[in-house]
Order: sequence, then structure tokens, then C-alpha cells
Amino acid sequence: MNGDDLVRSVKAVGSVRGLRAVRSALRRRRADARDLPARGPERARVPGAVTGAEPRPGGGLLRFARSELEVRVAAGGAVFWGWDGAGPEPSYALSGPAPEVDPRALLEPDKDGGWRVVSERLTVVVSRHGAVDVCTPGGVVLRRELPPRWWEPVGGGPARWLQRSEVAADARFFGLGGRAGGPRLRDGTYRLWNTDPGGGFGPGDDPLYITMPVQVVVADAGCHLAFYDSTWDGRVVLREGEEGAGSGHDRPGGSELRMDGGPLRCWVVAGTPARVLQGWTALTGAPAQPPSWALGPQHARWGFGSEREVRRVVGGYTERGLPLSALHLDIDHYDEHQVFTVDRAAFPDLPRLAKDLAQDGVRLVSIVDPGVRAEPGNPLYESGRAAGAFVEDARGHEVRGEVWPGECAYPDFTHPAARTWWGGQYQERLDQGFAGVWHDMNEPVSFAPFGDPTLPRSARHDLDGRGGDHREAHNVYGLCMARAGYEGLRGLRPDERPFLFSRSGWAGMQRYGGTWSGDVSTGWPGLRASLSLVLGLGLCGVPYSGPDVGGFTGSPSPELYLRWFQLGAWLPLFRTHAAKWAGRREPWEFGPKVLEGARAALAERQRLHPYFVTLAHVARLTGAPYARPLWWSAPGDRALRDCEDSFLLGDALLVAPVLERGSDRRAVRLPRGRWYDTATGEAHDGPGQVLLNAPLSRIPVLARAGSVIPVLGESGGLELEVWPPAAGRTGGGLVVRDAGDGWEQARVERFTTRVDHGRVVVERVDGGPGAEVGLPVRVRAAVR
Ligand code: NOJ
Repeated sequence: MNGDDLVRSVKAVGSVRGLRAVRSALRRRRADARDLPARGPERARVPGAVTGAEPRPGGGLLRFARSELEVRVAAGGAVFWGWDGAGPEPSYALSGPAPEVDPRALLEPDKDGGWRVVSERLTVVVSRHGAVDVCTPGGVVLRRELPPRWWEPVGGGPARWLQRSEVAADARFFGLGGRAGGPRLRDGTYRLWNTDPGGGFGPGDDPLYITMPVQVVVADAGCHLAFYDSTWDGRVVLREGEEGAGSGHDRPGGSELRMDGGPLRCWVVAGTPARVLQGWTALTGAPAQPPSWALGPQHARWGFGSEREVRRVVGGYTERGLPLSALHLDIDHYDEHQVFTVDRAAFPDLPRLAKDLAQDGVRLVSIVDPGVRAEPGNPLYESGRAAGAFVEDARGHEVRGEVWPGECAYPDFTHPAARTWWGGQYQERLDQGFAGVWHDMNEPVSFAPFGDPTLPRSARHDLDGRGGDHREAHNVYGLCMARAGYEGLRGLRPDERPFLFSRSGWAGMQRYGGTWSGDVSTGWPGLRASLSLVLGLGLCGVPYSGPDVGGFTGSPSPELYLRWFQLGAWLPLFRTHAAKWAGRREPWEFGPKVLEGARAALAERQRLHPYFVTLAHVARLTGAPYARPLWWSAPGDRALRDCEDSFLLGDALLVAPVLERGSDRRAVRLPRGRWYDTATGEAHDGPGQVLLNAPLSRIPVLARAGSVIPVLGESGGLELEVWPPAAGRTGGGLVVRDAGDGWEQARVERFTTRVDHGRVVVERVDGGPGAEVGLPVRVRAAVR
């Protein structure tokens, strides 16, 4: 027991739940001691020297003295390599069967007895001893994998492995799922084990709820994404390189990945950032398109407590003319915190409440926790048992943990039948009038005063028929729960796109929905962590997320609240939320100045709704996140790689939130090109840095010259907001109109801009030159 554990246990003991949590943690420890044999002596192994090669479609199989390596190039250009017989399947990350191979990729002998696979976009060079270089067609090494090393228990069991990699000295690392201390991942150790930090977290806390073995690397030579497809617990040690280190030589950047098990296999996707995300989401699935209302402002609280309070809060928005598109109900609306139930004393008629709120355009969203109170006679529990849905231990006994409803059983979402059973339960939520769901506690959590607050590692899981234990299933528990919920909702309400976001998840979770920050601490560091999480997750293929505006804990100062609100208004999921014991988060609770600032942010969010809808479709079609780091369109600009306090919203906007107390001005780094301050119309030319006003009432937002942005005009109709291209340049933009919240095919319209005789000309691309734009156009700055 370490110091933290001790504090946790002291806090926990003394309540009934605390005592049960102690019992459950002891049970977990006992189960693991009984069912997970100690590793015992291990034998280390490296591949040894190459002994032969066999061409295969898309690449080949290379035999080494003590292993074999398959290299194959997929039709879209992604490279796969796998040791020891590992192929791309089975995989929880891939959205379907492994992509077809590129038949043109050829295996050829290389110098010094090595081999190479040459494809159109990448060449993979394998050395005689099993180092794997992924190179550009020009021969520049993007990533070098050193020969791996395995440790195999002599008595059998999963092999641990180590994969060391090198990247360019100038490279920067991003990704690894949701990390609070990024978006640029500095030197340090990052764990790959989804974890509830158990209270408010800040930039120093790691790991959090979503970890992924996904690295996005940006260097002068190009960008790439490397995904090590193993769901097991692991640790990555990252070290940035140094140019001109020791006697003028560059020291490459390094990554050391140690995994407790699972296949040693990797996908590499390379190219521009846009191409990388396109390739990555081609493998792992297109991001689910949220219904358009989910791109509006949302409000939540743990502890609204009653229908009356909900009506009061929503009334507060309507009376003040503040837009609100959804209100979220937390576990306090359940009957004794039990999922798929309602506390009828506090919420006597939820369907009626939902109907009334809908008249004001407000949807209800429900929290859904996976733990089911393990109590004979509890109908949900009994039906789960009948379906054989719950996780069991090695002896076939149900695994129990401690969560909000008390002692709980956990659905095994890696079991297809359990997913179907669980998905069917969402009918109850739909009957209650909920329009969307918010998955929580699905790391999964079992409260524990000491040790790991989750299920025993020895707990058995179906793993879609393969069978295995929690060491392998843990990281995909949230992902598989999201699948169950998503597929359930699709089946139950086929005409509407499900709205689902989930606290935990893994590579590929975007197929089912988005996520949010979890319990980010109230404070300026938490505000920064919020942005880090959204940007990092976007680069891992999960574009829809956002923080608890105001932070989850405590009471933000009026200034902090407003700055958080202003950031949230520009992120995909824009939602205020807080803990039961935390202060209020309604915009009118912080005084008239804050209310006016929040009103302005809300109005801007509403005005930009068509742009957010367009960005959501672009994310679905291309994998490009709505919120992107500044280097997105200029990865070669090193200053942008290190810029972590602003972001691009789509192609058109640059958002520079205020992340520090007491500032009313801030430095804003600009990528190449002309940028207009949207508040003043003033033009600034990048690359470079400008100092911009950031009064409490707003944050700096700049528009790229030439861009076309779909907005709602004053009359409420769709309009094109146009920012003049710089002299001699052209520009453009997309508009994707939402045809509804169903599955209608959305139409993508493209517009271009140019300046002709001092006037801005906007044209619709598919209509040919001079084609009618068909929408009102508002040019927002003078042509210069
Ligand atoms: C933890 C979640 O992160 C938080 O958002 C929620 O309010 C509480 N659980 C209670 O359900």
C-alpha cells in the first residue's frame, strides 16, 4: 500500500460503501493471487538473424532464427508489420476485416542480407537482425523499429515484449489517447491502462480514462501515426530528440514500448496530417455523426435532484434568452443509483418532462453506468444472469465490484450475447424520453481503497469467442460497451442517429460516438488540460469531445468560469457539468458581466452551428478532427509544433483561448498566410506571432483569408460568411447541410473565393464558372 492508497483507504473506511470497497479490493487481490500464477522465471528472446523470405501479396514473410515477421502494405497505403505470426486480425480497433493488400507492393532483397517492401508511398526496410525502417519513397526514415525483445515465462503464459523505436531528432510526439499534460507529449512515461484517477485530475495526472497505443509523430521529414495493436497493459517512455547534440550529431527521438502481453504488431500511416487521419479512420472506422442538436450548447450537473430543479434550470436559460439544446441527467435521477431505473419520487413523470422540454428545443440525455446491482430479485440483474451476461472468475463465479448502486456485477461487453442483451435495455431510456446517452464508470471502475480500482486481472472475458482475462479485456471494456449501446440504439430507433459519448474507450471508439474530459479539476491547470485532451483525442481519431466547462470540482472564479465557457464554445462537445458537491455552473450564477460574456459565446456558437455541422460531416468523411493543432496544415513549421495554447477549428478559424488568470491580451502564433481578427477585421500576416486583445468579454478568434464559413444569418437562415483572399490568392470552403437527425445522405457543397477588380467573387464549384451561389453572402472585411 503506498501513500495515496493509504489516504484513499482512510477516506473510504467509515462509510458502509467504504467497508464494502475494502472487501471488494481484498476479494480482487485474493482472486488474482489464486487465479493468476506468478510469472516465475522467464526466457528472453530476440529474433536473431534472417534465414529466409517468402513473397506474399502486398509484401512478404521474413523468417528469422527465433521468430518471423510479416510485412504487408494495405491498398490505402498503410503499412502493417507483425512478429511471431501476428496478423492484423482479430482486432478491436479495426472497423471490419483487415483492408485488402496493395498487390503492387513488392518484396526485394536489400543490402547486407536485409529485405525491403517497396510500395508507392512508403518503403519498409528490414535489416538482417529484424530492425524495421519505415521510409519515404525518397529514402528518409520516418520511424525505425529496433529488433524487438520478448520475455516468455518458462512455465507458459503471455510473453512480455519491448519495442524500441527512433524518430527524427526534430520530431514531436502526440496522441496516446486522452492525456492531460499534452497535447505535445514531453519526455516521460505514459501508461496504457484506462484508469479513473478517482477525483479531479490536472495536467500531471496520468493515465486517465482513455489510453491508446497510438503515436502521432510530426517531423520535418513528414508525419506518421504508429499504432501498436495490443490491448494489454503497457508503458511508453518517450524522449524527444535533440539536434546537434553531442559533438554536433543529432540525437534521435525515442519511444520505448513495454507491453505485458498481446501480439507485437503495428500499423503505420504516413503523409500529411490530413492524410494520416484519413488513413487511420479508414482502418478504424469513420467517426459517428452526432445528431445536429448535439452540436449545440448542453448543460449537466450531478445532483439536479428533482424534476422541479430541472425545470427551474431550463427555465433560467429560457427566461434569459440563452440557447440550450440538451440537459443531462446524472446518477441522482436513478432509483438508488441503479442504471435503467428512475427515482419516481424526484422524477415522477420523465416522459412528460422530456416532452415539455422538447417544446423549448431541449433534449434529455441520460448517464448510463455499466455496474448492475447484484441483488437477487433485481429485474435487471436477473435478466443479465439469465442471458449469461456478467463477468465471471476462473471458477465460474460472478465477479463483483463496488460502484454507486452498491455491490455490482459487470456485463462482459466483449461477449456478443451480452452486448445484445445490454443494447436492448436502452428501450427503457427511450421510453423515458431520453434522446442520447452518456456512458460513465466504464474503465470499468470498482471503488478500491487500495490497489487498482477496477476488476481483478484474472476475471474471465469472452473476447468475442477467443476467451481471455481482464488483462486483455480491460482497455476495450468501454469501447465494447459503446458498441453495445450504439448498436442497441440503432436497432431500437433506426431512424435517428444515436447520440452517445463515453468516458472510457480505445482505438476505434469514434465509430460509436465521442467522449468528454471526465473529472477535470477546477483551476487554471484544468482548463489547459481540457484543451490538451480534446486535441490529443482528435489526433487519435476521436473528434467529438469537450471538457466539463467550469471544471468538475469546486467553484471556479467568475473569470475562470467565463474563460472555460469561451473555450468550450469552440469545441465539439460544449457542456457545462460539475460534481454534486461543487458550485453551480449556470451562466447566470457568476454575475452580470460573466452572463453577458457567456451570452456572447452562446450566440456565436449558435451562429456557427452550420459550420460545426459541416465539420462533423468532414470528420465522418475524412477523419479530420474539428479541433486541430496549429501545425495541422503546416507540419513543417516547427514553432507551430510547440504551440499548445491555440487550435484550428476546421480549415477556416484559429481559436486562441485565454488560459491564464488576469490576462486581457495574449500572444497568438499564426501559421503562414493572412488571418483576420474576427472581432476587429484587422488583417495579420503569418507566419509569426501577434499580440491580440482578449478582454474578458471574448477570446481572440481569427479567420483564414479566403475562407467560406456557413453561419446562421440574423434572419435565422443559412448564409456564407466570406473572408477576402489575400492579393493574388484564392480560397474556399465546404458547406454540408444537415438533412435531419437520421441517415439521409448529406450533400457536400463547395465554394471558391477570389478577388476580381477589388471585389470578392464567390462561386459554387459543382455549378461551373459563374454558377449561382444560391445563398446570401456576407463579406466580412475590406479587400486589401
Ligand atoms: C463520474 C463522472 O466522470 C462524472 O461526470 C459524473 O458526474 C459522476 N461520475 C457521477 O455519475
